[in-house]
Amino acid sequence: MTTDVHDDLLERFYGPDHPELGSGPLSVEPYISPTYFAREREQIFRDAWLLACHETEIPEPGDFLVKEIPIFRSSVICVRGTDRRIRAFHNVCKHRGNKVACGEGYGSTKAFFCRFHGWSYTLDGRLRGVPESDRFPGLDKRSHGLEPYTMDVWNGFVFLNAARKPAKGLREYLGTLADVLDLFPNELPCLGGRSFALPGVCPSPFQSFLFRHKRPPARNQVHVSFRNASKRGKSLGS
Ligand code: FES
Repeated sequence: MTTDVHDDLLERFYGPDHPELGSGPLSVEPYISPTYFAREREQIFRDAWLLACHETEIPEPGDFLVKEIPIFRSSVICVRGTDRRIRAFHNVCKHRGNKVACGEGYGSTKAFFCRFHGWSYTLDGRLRGVPESDRFPGLDKRSHGLEPYTMDVWNGFVFLNAARKPAKGLREYLGTLADVLDLFPNELPCLGGRSFALPGVCPSPFQSFLFRHKRPPARNQVHVSFRNASKRGKSLGS
């Protein structure tokens, strides 16, 4: 992204077109008020598309990411299936609600195994195995798969939405930001999901979002992204 494009975006988001933002001191109320937090959760985040990862972070069938969404006390699994499609599921076993993938971060597996009573799920979320299934007479496996979480992909960026039926589709929600994401070449190698910013720059939140994903290094910035090799090949779900 050129400096001109960057400045233009800052102008559009924070410029004189938004006098309602004002220039006075900021209240601390939004940061400490439980009421404000509850309203923010329901009125902003309940229907927001939240960035989960880039699809290159889970490149192979079986690769997955467990993403915690604290504001909703949710845990979500993003996984690439054997058909190479990326899907997202609530990280909740259909038996007694245990997490089927423990911990947070990356892993790779052939299936998800709940550690509580051993129910197992395929990469596309179907209930595969139920130990001692004779003790569950009439269990319809087809209706006990992992619950899908609303997700969509834009230019390789995987987004999640807490609403079952979001008011806006991802493209509409992103608006001009989608044009920005289009500037990122997908062929850049991404070796994993960790980012480091070296001293010398204090990015705005907007810049931070961009740095998190493949912004080419500028003169005094280095963005390193790699997968923790020790976690590679180790299933968090088994
Ligand atoms: S809670 Fe998962 S198998 Fe029982």
